[in-house]
Amino acid sequence: MLTLQIRTDQGEHALAMPVGQSVREALDTTDLRVRAACGGTGSCGACLVRLMQGEVNPHTLAEYQKLTAEERAEGLRLACQLRPRGDAVIFLEQPAPPSHWKSIPPENLLPASTLGSRAELTQRIYGVAVDLGTTHIRVALWDRKRGKRIATRRGPNPQGVFGADVLNRLDTVRARPERAAELAKLARSAIVQAVRDILARDVGEVTPMLAEIGELIIVGNTAMLALLTGHGGEALMQPENWQSAIDCRPRDPIAWHEQWFMPHANIWLPEAVAGFIGSDLVADLIATGLNEGPAGSLLLDVGTNTEIALWDGQHLHLTSVPGGPAFEGVGIRNGMPAEVGAICRVRPNASNGGLAFEILGAPLSIPTGTAPNTTPARGICGSGLADAVAVLLELGILKPSGRFTVSPGAEGYRLDPGNPRTAITGVDIDAFQRAKAATAAAMETLLSTSPTPRHWACCRR
Ligand code: FES
Repeated sequence: MLTLQIRTDQGEHALAMPVGQSVREALDTTDLRVRAACGGTGSCGACLVRLMQGEVNPHTLAEYQKLTAEERAEGLRLACQLRPRGDAVIFLEQPAPPSHWKSIPPENLLPASTLGSRAELTQRIYGVAVDLGTTHIRVALWDRKRGKRIATRRGPNPQGVFGADVLNRLDTVRARPERAAELAKLARSAIVQAVRDILARDVGEVTPMLAEIGELIIVGNTAMLALLTGHGGEALMQPENWQSAIDCRPRDPIAWHEQWFMPHANIWLPEAVAGFIGSDLVADLIATGLNEGPAGSLLLDVGTNTEIALWDGQHLHLTSVPGGPAFEGVGIRNGMPAEVGAICRVRPNASNGGLAFEILGAPLSIPTGTAPNTTPARGICGSGLADAVAVLLELGILKPSGRFTVSPGAEGYRLDPGNPRTAITGVDIDAFQRAKAATAAAMETLLSTSPTPRHWACCRR
């Protein structure tokens, strides 16, 4: 990894990025995007930056075509062509307007080769895949003909204004059914906005390309799909629907289709398995190939509603369990979504006997010249909370019962003694224990269905 110092008219930031990555690819995962209108091929010339310092690759052919000799001599480069070989400093000549949408870092994506190509396609070659999450929405644009992922985006689910977790949103619609259309529109508009962002920045045209999308596939938990299609959540509240598929299809498919502005797209919502087992778990199963692996494999999609799959070598056994939103950082004193400023990893710090932690998006908020760990945290997300509980147990700060060895009082125990936003209280530990216990109970129940208990005993260990 190298450090890229980014100067703008507003200040200076530091970003850790892998050697070999282009500056545009690195910036696209942050709030500091440059203008762009091609997929990083160097053909639009919009992503201008000025190289102030650092060893980088020579000018590319595209830069010889887009930049004059004078501009090249002044240090102007195209961010999509610029690949630092060590620490470097740049100035953003063409910052893009602020946006909620960021690219998903490549290390968080499955290899594109997992999807086949469809050489027979002659038109409508674009396909859009959407993971409609309670907290975040992830969108990918694919070239279906070549089986190539063109670009991705990740941004917040704007339905969050109606509640951080699915139950609050379902309650909103139950109390005020007229709100169903509003929630549906929020999610739909966000997805369309993400697609438009990709088309504008990575394809170069928006409206004509919307017409070239042949397929839009959306997966999500059952509640999210029901809210997307304006159903509300009444069916989810009925126990008879907890073990059978719920119809999340729009009531008026033609009118619904028109609202997406993708006139030729086959809009596909793969069927949710049951009341609280969504099509996102089906996507998880396909992505991980769980049922192609050894018998006794368990998959958990952890969240407010944790979905669990068990492959016994012949059958998939599925269940879900509501554990409360603690795993998503909700209902926790200093809990927050996995967003910039959230502590996402905690580990013991052997050098000083304290704790070390990672903070999401930390590189962008590091004032130049300071160490990464001095970035102030704004709170703790679910993975950070799980790590913190494990580490506090390991260090004897927490007892196995969940009580603090030495009571920290109502203020809670601060992971960072100087930052009150890192405090964890006894009530937080209680919420975490209940979520963990519910999840463990579901796992045990699923494992007990096994026809080969001896093997599962091995898995549980
Ligand atoms: S020239 Fe760099 S994104 Fe188009």
